[in-house]
Amino acid sequence: MRVHVADHPLINHKLTYLRDKRTDTPTFRRLTDELVTLLAYEATRDVRVTPFDIETPVAPTTGIHLSTPKPLVVPILRAGLGMLDGMMRMLPTAEVGFLGMVRNEETLEAHTYANRLPDDLDKRQCYLLDPMLATGGTLAAAIHYLVDLGADHITAITLLSAPEGIERVEQDVADIDPPVTLVTGAIDEKLNEHGYIVPGLGDAGDRLYGVV
Ligand code: URA
Repeated sequence: MRVHVADHPLINHKLTYLRDKRTDTPTFRRLTDELVTLLAYEATRDVRVTPFDIETPVAPTTGIHLSTPKPLVVPILRAGLGMLDGMMRMLPTAEVGFLGMVRNEETLEAHTYANRLPDDLDKRQCYLLDPMLATGGTLAAAIHYLVDLGADHITAITLLSAPEGIERVEQDVADIDPPVTLVTGAIDEKLNEHGYIVPGLGDAGDRLYGVV
């Protein structure tokens, strides 16, 4: 797996406010949206493009446009939904699929409870959205789910990641070719005994949707 930490002062500034427990839900949502747009810029560096002939008012020229099939953006429900708008701002013509995964809070293992994806992902570049890479169980399961449907290039975008989760996903997806890419805003210190990222930001879904 290729891991890219998008280390940038604007990202770190926004992450600091996102982590702060005093940040209210509307601000948390806006910061998430802004962060995803910045991360999407980094994450789409390898998006597939095709030459495209146009004419400017001055002369003909050849540019590029996104190849078909168009990329697929897949937020992992529920918290990944908070990242969708920011991603679509950068990739407005992408298709969107949904994957509902939840982790059992005792075993910390992920299981799929909903799937709204194209049947065949053959040759599709997929962008998986999940704010928190904690134990890595959910992300690893989601990646395998997409690969089994034929996806051939997967980039995961997370706001924060734990070293333990990165290691687990790295081991789980080591055989996938082309290699999976992870773009994350920061790698935090560790996971605590409840599977929360430390220092982290708490429960991303709860903070996005105001549930306590
Ligand atoms: N999911 C979250 O929302 N937060 C964590 O710290 C870990 C998993």
